[in-house]
Amino acid sequence: MKKINIAIDGPSGAGKSTLAKQLAADFGYIYVDTGAMYRSIGLYVCRKNIAADDKAGIIGCLDGIEVDLKYIEGTQHVMLNGEDVSDKIRTEEISKYASAVSAIPEVRSFLLDLQRNLAARSSVIMDGRDIGTVILPDAEVKIFLTASDCKRAERRYKELIEKGQKVTFEGVLENIRQRDKNDSERALAPLKPADDAVIVDTSDLDLRQSFELMKKVIMEKTANV
Ligand code: DC
Repeated sequence: MKKINIAIDGPSGAGKSTLAKQLAADFGYIYVDTGAMYRSIGLYVCRKNIAADDKAGIIGCLDGIEVDLKYIEGTQHVMLNGEDVSDKIRTEEISKYASAVSAIPEVRSFLLDLQRNLAARSSVIMDGRDIGTVILPDAEVKIFLTASDCKRAERRYKELIEKGQKVTFEGVLENIRQRDKNDSERALAPLKPADDAVIVDTSDLDLRQSFELMKKVIMEKTANV
């Protein structure tokens, strides 16, 4: 079987990770969550009490960081210096840190090899912001998954409340808008669809409909590979 790489990019809260995970299970590919890697660096920086805007401080601590993904019974675990941080990186505070560190070129190149090596080894569904544009420009399938900011905030708010986190809808919406701005306006690897990406807007689709639509795109794009 030929190795296939699928790039899924898009803004926060579009459903990338949920859908990429489901599609990876369906196709038998490895799911790679690159946002989790930026979040792990964000967590490390936060724990070291380095300010999110202290660029030199952040670059200076990269040498002490080892990020890795482990797959235990098919589930991805994010390891930061050997510690499983899969849950600890999913807070609003760490989201902000992740967005800040991801704008630093040295942080992006720190993660680039790790991401490309994973895709070179196996068929992957990799989600992020620059997978189709920078990391895997030759990916067989590129999908840009998006939805309106209000819809995305609504979904993220429900998710966080279910996890017991104390957040307001307005706070979550503001965080999403701020991250959209940071992620799309940064000079390096900004959030934008690759020229050959298929745009999938999930504003009016539920999870099942989004899954079916993406599966159809993947099947069509890989039919002759
Ligand atoms: O997908 P996420 O919300 O877990 O990503 C966290 C942050 O990392 C987000 O603000 C953008 C950044 N990121 C990035 O710049 N490039 C990627 N490939 C993935 C995430």
